[in-house]
Amino acid sequence: MLGLASLAVLASGLLQVAAGLDPQGPAQTYKRCQRKTCNPTDGCPQGTIYVSKDDSRASFSSIQAAIESVGNTTTPAYILIAPGNYTEQLNVTRRGPLHLIGMSTRPWKGETYSDIDVNTERQNDVQVWWNSANHDAIFSDNVFTSVLTVGPTFNATLTGSGPTGFPVPDDTPFGCTDFRAYNIDFRNEFAPYSDGPAHAIGVSRANAGFYSCGFYSWQDTIYIGKLGNAYFYDAIVAGQTDFLYGFGTLYVEKSHLTLRSCGGGITAWKGTNTTFPNKYGVYLDRTPLIAANASIAAKMVGKCALGRPWNAQHRSVFMDSYFDGSVRPAGYIIWGTTDQRVNNYTFMATWEDYGPGYNKTAEMGSGGVTLVLDDEEVGPYRYPADVFQTPEGGFGNVGWIDQSVLFSKD
Ligand SMILES: *[C@@H]1O[C@H](CO)[C@@H](O)[C@H](O)[C@H]1NC(C)=O
Ligand SMILES: *[C@@H]1O[C@H](CO)[C@@H](O)[C@H](O)[C@H]1NC(C)=O
Ligand SMILES: *[C@@H]1O[C@H](CO)[C@@H](O)[C@H](O)[C@H]1NC(C)=O
Ligand SMILES: *[C@@H]1O[C@H](CO)[C@@H](O)[C@H](O)[C@H]1NC(C)=O
Ligand SMILES: *[C@@H]1O[C@H](CO)[C@@H](O)[C@H](O)[C@H]1NC(C)=O
Ligand SMILES: *[C@@H]1O[C@H](CO)[C@@H](O)[C@H](O)[C@H]1NC(C)=O
Ligand SMILES: *[C@@H]1O[C@H](CO)[C@@H](O)[C@H](O)[C@H]1NC(C)=O
Ligand SMILES: *[C@@H]1O[C@H](CO)[C@@H](O)[C@H](O)[C@H]1NC(C)=O
Repeated sequence: MLGLASLAVLASGLLQVAAGLDPQGPAQTYKRCQRKTCNPTDGCPQGTIYVSKDDSRASFSSIQAAIESVGNTTTPAYILIAPGNYTEQLNVTRRGPLHLIGMSTRPWKGETYSDIDVNTERQNDVQVWWNSANHDAIFSDNVFTSVLTVGPTFNATLTGSGPTGFPVPDDTPFGCTDFRAYNIDFRNEFAPYSDGPAHAIGVSRANAGFYSCGFYSWQDTIYIGKLGNAYFYDAIVAGQTDFLYGFGTLYVEKSHLTLRSCGGGITAWKGTNTTFPNKYGVYLDRTPLIAANASIAAKMVGKCALGRPWNAQHRSVFMDSYFDGSVRPAGYIIWGTTDQRVNNYTFMATWEDYGPGYNKTAEMGSGGVTLVLDDEEVGPYRYPADVFQTPEGGFGNVGWIDQSVLFSKD
């Protein structure tokens, strides 16, 4: 069901593609809904639920209460969230589509991702906070720390430990087939340094797209669990240690990684042996890596590793991205001297990156730790449709991604 607004987006996308231009800027899909209007849900899909902390017209003052109210059906649900600071943990277990829409003027301003002054963190008007870290293993699992968790059952969202993590039973159902968040910041600011795993979000056995969202923590900011598919567009991800980690598949496009300090690696992935071919891993495209500010930048020149192998089947590729001077010239690192976790199955790669922190010679001289890909080698991982797969292993199903931003592909 395409509304007039989406047809207009489609048409302008096609025109830009035809003109050979690269459309940029925030997703426009809910632009009319996100605008602050006299009647808050004007321009929103029919049945949109309105959440506000201080507006008496709202149905709920808590986002989680609104999420719970929609139940586990296959009917799409839309939740519009008024500006504010919401201190709560969000859990999404439902099967059907759920779109969390933050009120925002950003889609109207239409700035492109490259316009952002990365030294002044861009904030959304909707902030969801949960400050919690699994320091000294005070919790039995990292999932307890997360601001947002998307997954069908509690057990499916557990990180677990060991080379294969928590043994999720095969008959566990798939969770949300189309979760989305627009213009929402997820903040876990437990301590201003790495003090144990502190998730901003976790996605397991579910499809989740995040548009113009911010994710702020220091350690393990983003967790993509088993059979998790997550797509980020126009996002900011802030962290220090292993801040993109997991077992599933994450594709980050036209976003920014904010380096708050260096620790572990920027990525830490665990591969899984499946009976079907898989491309579980983390892929970043046109996503600059930038120090959080000038004073921290001066302290970490050449120190931030692109990643390290959580197990030897780690898979990640940084594509066409700017590296500032914080990035370690040789790129990735081994896990440890006695437990290196690098073998022929390890795939820690770069393709066509650039900037002061990118040094091809040093990467090529890393003894096979960092792989510098050519156009043919990057081919199988280049676009979202190449890497996202269904639980059975099929590729190419990206119907859950906001189609208006997929036009940004050249
Ligand atoms: C928002 O909430 C967090 C955590 O509860 C708190 O640390 C922060 O200061 C609040 N921000 C504002 C602007 O009220
Ligand atoms: C939601 O419904 C699906 C389909 O009926 C079911 O498989 C799943 O277990 C339910 N999830 C929850 C959290 O109840
Ligand atoms: C969300 O799930 C976590 C564990 O995953 C749990 O600790 C928390 O209480 C849940 N919160 C809500 C509001 O359901
Ligand atoms: C979750 O996993 C634990 C540990 O394996 C198990 O004891 C428990 O029964 C599982 N819970 C469910 C609902 O399957
Ligand atoms: C610079 O960024 C770091 C990491 O986010 C932070 O701890 C520090 O307070 C910031 N310094 C300034 C001067 O903003
Ligand atoms: C998967 O298989 C490869 C090759 O046999 C092996 O090296 C690796 O340890 C296995 N990984 C896991 C997590 O079982
Ligand atoms: C890795 O591949 C090379 C070339 O095919 C082979 O010579 C080597 O034995 C392999 N190493 C391992 C640990 O399998
Ligand atoms: C890149 O790395 C090589 C090998 O470590 C080094 O000789 C060279 O000076 C580096 N280039 C720059 C521009 O830093």
